[in-house]
Parts: sequence; structure tokens; C-alpha cells
Amino acid sequence: MPLDKWQWSPSPLPGQVVLVTSRDSGGVVGIAPKSWLSVAAMTPLTIGFGCALSHQTARNVRDTGEFVVNVPGADLAETIWAMPEAADRWAGLTRLPGVAVEVPSVLECAAHLECVCDRIVEFHEGEVFIFGTVLRIAVVEQGLAGGDTAGRYAALGHPFFFLENGWCAPLGEPRRASHP
Ligand SMILES: Cc1cc2nc3c(=O)[nH]c(=O)nc-3n(C[C@H](O)[C@H](O)[C@H](O)COP(=O)(O)O)c2cc1C
Repeated sequence: MPLDKWQWSPSPLPGQVVLVTSRDSGGVVGIAPKSWLSVAAMTPLTIGFGCALSHQTARNVRDTGEFVVNVPGADLAETIWAMPEAADRWAGLTRLPGVAVEVPSVLECAAHLECVCDRIVEFHEGEVFIFGTVLRIAVVEQGLAGGDTAGRYAALGHPFFFLENGWCAPLGEPRRASHP
């Protein structure tokens, strides 16, 4: 398989799609889809995502040091794919004021991870990986607290993944993995 990620088909590394919200030093709030995302450390809980240094998201995090990772359900896939070119990226979405950070969350997303920037690692060709310490995780209450495990993932709105250009897939049916 080529080393150029854009030529992968099938992608051996599907990436969960999230919406990253951030703000600039003047308070203007940004929102952008990201899919190169990972848990980086457990203590303190640290997550990271890949981003182009030229993107507003990277500039905002560098300037104000905060961001929120919002976890959308599959119902937002079309909106999210159209978002980079949309005249108004917030159309149909609602801002929820931040609690631990000054960056708002996206109400329509089932989970919000409020983060303060830990470090920005620069790679070649203007790419960076942005790591953030998670200060607070908020989830929608409905259906997430009780019920069976599969039901709780359904209540999360079926998280979904970037496969390759123009293709996505939601999380499949959760099942218990048997221990070796
Ligand atoms: C489903 C999807 C996933 C994306 N994943 C990433 C990503 O992981 N990293 C990235 O830099 N851009 C990613 N993009 C592209 C950015 O969202 C896009 O370039 C956007 O315009 C950047 O906005 P900003 O300049 O406000 O940060 C993705 C776009 C889509 C639609």
C-alpha cells in the first residue's frame, strides 16, 4: 500500500471523526472536523489530534491554549463532510458554554472533552499534533447512565469513522470480546 494516506483503500487506520472547537484571542469561535485523534496518556488524561499548522484550529490553540473535542453521532456525518466549505459552519448546530474552558461545546454532540493544550509537536510540511490535558468530560444524560452496554453506545449516537476520501462508517454492533 502506498505511504500516501490519501491513496489508501481500504484504509488500515480508520479515524474517529470529531468536531474540534477553539477560539482566537479576540473570542471568535472556530469549529472543524478532525479524524486523526488518539488518547496519548492516562495520567493526566491526555488526548491529541493531527492538524495542519495553517488551519485556524491550530492557530487558535497556539494563541489561546484551549480546545474542546466534541463527539458527534452518525446523524451529523453529512453536515460534517460539508462543513469545511460551508458558508456558516455553525448552521444547525448550537453552542453550549464551556465549563472548565472558555471554548464552547457543540450541543448536538453526545460527548464533550474540554482540554487545555499540553504541547504542540511540529512535523514536516506544516503538520502538527496537538496534545491537550482533559479537564472535564460531559456527556448527554439520556440513555448513557443506565441500560446495557450496546444501548449506551447507541445513546452516544453511534460514533463514526473517516475511512477514505468521501467514505465513513459508524461503529458496528458492540459485542463482548472473549478473554484468551
Ligand atoms: C471528516 C473530516 C475529517 C477531517 N480530519 C482532519 C484531520 O484529522 N486533520 C486535519 O488537519 N484536517 C482534517 N480535516 C480537514 C479540516 O477539517 C478542514 O481543512 C478545515 O477547513 C479546517 O478548518 P480550520 O482551518 O478552521 O481549522 C477533515 C475534514 C473532514 C470533512
